[in-house]
Amino acid sequence: MRLLSKIFSNTRKPEGFFGRMMVNGMNSGSHARMAEWGLSFVNINESANVLDIGCGGGANIARLLARCPKGMVKGIDHSPVSVRKSTRVNARAISDGRCIVMEGSASALPFADSEFNLVTAFETVYFWPKIEDCFRGIHRVLKDGGHFVIVNEDDGLTGNNDKWEKLIEGMHTYTPDELRAHITAAGFSDITVNCDEQHHWLCVIATK
Ligand SMILES: C[S@@+](CC[C@H](N)C(=O)[O-])C[C@H]1O[C@@H](n2cnc3c(N)ncnc32)[C@H](O)[C@@H]1O
Repeated sequence: MRLLSKIFSNTRKPEGFFGRMMVNGMNSGSHARMAEWGLSFVNINESANVLDIGCGGGANIARLLARCPKGMVKGIDHSPVSVRKSTRVNARAISDGRCIVMEGSASALPFADSEFNLVTAFETVYFWPKIEDCFRGIHRVLKDGGHFVIVNEDDGLTGNNDKWEKLIEGMHTYTPDELRAHITAAGFSDITVNCDEQHHWLCVIATK
């Protein structure tokens, strides 16, 4: 149990050998299909300024860059392993000046007020401490009319994630109602919840 917990805690903060394995895995398989599904609900302007929080292996930064060919995508993650992998995956866009990847926390975003048109969070809000404070920080860095998009592989309604919550300290799988309440408390409006009934995937879109 202790070994399993050590291995799967790398989903919360990838570290060392298992962390490197985990970020490679995040860039493929069900994460990729779910990310494409989530992004199908989002309109992205070709010049958009986008932030991806908890960017992991950087595959979603690459997807976002492809959708805003004249825009800019920044990625932030509290794991140096994730930052290194995202940097490698997006090396071309970084050298073209269209992408920046940095180490940092969802709890203390090092960005200017009203900087972004879109902030995304794929498979990561489960792990954020004091989630409403994080959502308030996202509200601060979004422009008026900008969107915050959460995509989760589990909608918290089935108990399927209970086994992971037992193994990964601090993990919580939010239901649509819980997310809606926290997002509203952080100042967002116009909240849309999309659910994939087959997989129990969840995509929540909120507007500043
Ligand atoms: C399960 S991975 C998902 C990675 C990527 N978004 C994806 O969908 O493939 C979760 C990522 O969120 C990061 N993360 C978790 N909590 C964070 C926090 N409070 N601040 C910044 N990054 C965080 C982890 O380090 C990890 O890289």
